[in-house]
Amino acid sequence: MFPENRPRRLRRTKTIRRMVRETKISTDDLVYPLFIKEGKSIKEPIGAMPGQFRYSLDMLREPVKEVEKLGIPAVILFGIPLKKDPLGREAYKKNGIVQKAVKAIKDAAPELLVITDVCMCEYTDHGHCGILTEQGEVSNDDTLEVIAKIALSHANAGADIVAPSGMMDGGVGVIRDALDEGGFEQVPIMSYAIKYASAFYGPFREAADSSPAFGDRKGYQMDPANVREALREAMLDVEEGADFLMVKPAMPYLDVLRVVSEEFDTPLVAYQVSGEYSMIKAAATNGWLDEDSVIMESLTAIKRAGADIIITYFAPTVARLIT
Ligand code: PBG
Repeated sequence: MFPENRPRRLRRTKTIRRMVRETKISTDDLVYPLFIKEGKSIKEPIGAMPGQFRYSLDMLREPVKEVEKLGIPAVILFGIPLKKDPLGREAYKKNGIVQKAVKAIKDAAPELLVITDVCMCEYTDHGHCGILTEQGEVSNDDTLEVIAKIALSHANAGADIVAPSGMMDGGVGVIRDALDEGGFEQVPIMSYAIKYASAFYGPFREAADSSPAFGDRKGYQMDPANVREALREAMLDVEEGADFLMVKPAMPYLDVLRVVSEEFDTPLVAYQVSGEYSMIKAAATNGWLDEDSVIMESLTAIKRAGADIIITYFAPTVARLIT
């Protein structure tokens, strides 16, 4: 017999569940990443990311209109240039692939907010995120000048938000100065402040052709073992003028999202990265997981941990699932 005066748990009827749900995913939370490649008539499937493609400019119209129609507020762009060189010069060309893509997207889907990834790894022939020293290491200070130029060229092309992803010391500050001087005081900076040196970026590096030709990114990206350091990284970027902070990857770093969201009032972005996407896809394709349920559960967990915004390759799928 159930003892008298003992509490019982809330009866979880469907409606009650709906009413007391603490975390809700909305289309408004989503950002969709797009890979844009120099060339014509390209809609190239990305092998390790089933359902994702590289598009040339002339093929962009349809997917961005679809994203806009689904009510997803923003896209983030990654460019794949034809030419790469040690200095990543293509990254800040007026007619570079991302610069042209921003214009094309604004043309096709004027409501869509365009975020641009500011980094050198897709543009350098060595695949590192900056200018190398003779010893083959990324020179932080030489790289700063270049990323400021890249960010300014994106803003000039019409980017709404710039997102430096190279984790250079002082990067946010030099970009803020360059934008302000260029008359772009209103363009916010979404800093990849807390970016772990993660093996979960594997499929992205295939997609964006940005694997380092030698070595790794452990010198400038964070050690997965650290969380206190994440707070320090976040603090530095906020002091330099970051308007959004990002934690990347997302699901393996929910504890990091939690502490950063508790310590900072800056809007917090989580990037559900390529490897997270591919794992779910692979398991679902094999019939080992229910894809839609796992997608929704993963996004709910990321938001519950403290994210305000989620960058995810599942954005269109999620928008279709919840509307
Ligand atoms: C760097 C960048 C990377 C990702 C986003 N921006 C790759 C890296 O740091 O190696 C990874 C995103 C993903 O895996 O989905 N430009």
